[in-house]
Amino acid sequence: MSLPPPGPDRAAVVTGASSGIGAEIARELARRGHQVVLVARTESKLAELAAELGEHAHVLATDLSDRDARAGLLDRIGELGLVPDVLVNNAGLSTLGPVHRSDPAAEANLLEVDVVAVVDLCSRFLPGMVERGRGAVLNVASTAAFQPLPGQAAYGGAKAFVLSYTQSLSGELAGTGVHATVLCPGPVDTGFGEAAGFERHDFETSLPSIMWVSAAEVARTAVDGMARGRIVVIPGAVNRAGAVFGRLAPRRLLVPLLARQHPGLR
Ligand SMILES: NC(=O)c1ccc[n+]([C@@H]2O[C@H](COP(=O)([O-])OP(=O)(O)OC[C@H]3O[C@@H](n4cnc5c(N)ncnc54)[C@H](OP(=O)(O)O)[C@@H]3O)[C@@H](O)[C@H]2O)c1
Repeated sequence: MSLPPPGPDRAAVVTGASSGIGAEIARELARRGHQVVLVARTESKLAELAAELGEHAHVLATDLSDRDARAGLLDRIGELGLVPDVLVNNAGLSTLGPVHRSDPAAEANLLEVDVVAVVDLCSRFLPGMVERGRGAVLNVASTAAFQPLPGQAAYGGAKAFVLSYTQSLSGELAGTGVHATVLCPGPVDTGFGEAAGFERHDFETSLPSIMWVSAAEVARTAVDGMARGRIVVIPGAVNRAGAVFGRLAPRRLLVPLLARQHPGLR
């Protein structure tokens, strides 16, 4: 069993649970009987979701770009009387536009949340899971992990890191009873595009409609993938084909094509 069974003192910790894919993953895990610990900055949204999910949901408002706040998370979960058997590193964001017009602080914040927090929480949560001989980690990357992404260069690089890192983790964890899965969604209609600075119309039309998968479907596929011990989960047949193309296409041709089409470079 790759996804540890739920228990009264066991919890699934979901970061970025205040909206979009993270909220749906929390709903999916709760539906399957897991207690969930909801993590993000916006406490009011976490409280709303916790009220919907009932007594088995807990709110730990945390800014994951804050290294001290991250360092305290495991103890705060312990104070709830819970052992984290499942860690979902879903919180994430993108910037938009060419690096030569970027804000250095925004780029550093992206790396802190999308990369450093993922590594930090894995380093902090995995020792206990390995010691107990059970656990599951889901790191959320993107289909952007399979090829460069001019117009969102730091985001593409960050997600490529998360993909490679999680695949390495899965190798290291073999035989420990702990499993690592990386989720690589294509486009999903959440607050993500708006937070990155896309115009709604540009975000919606940036990729063909057949590539879009709902956040609820992404969450269901992700949790099924964890339960089956899958290492890489890509929701949607078109996105799976796109990932193969993105991996194999010659960079010399692909990168200029992507740059011409990206709304952030117009
Ligand atoms: N939507 C897509 O098309 C798409 C495609 C591929 C991959 N993804 C990935 O899916 C994940 C979830 O994105 P989404 O689409 O669901 O976007 P979203 O609706 O914007 O959700 C992002 C979540 O991250 C949290 N977050 C951002 N900065 C944070 C910080 N400093 N500390 C704690 N939490 C923080 C946000 O909560 P607060 O603002 O309340 O802190 C929110 O809950 C991300 O990793 C994203 O890269 C999205």
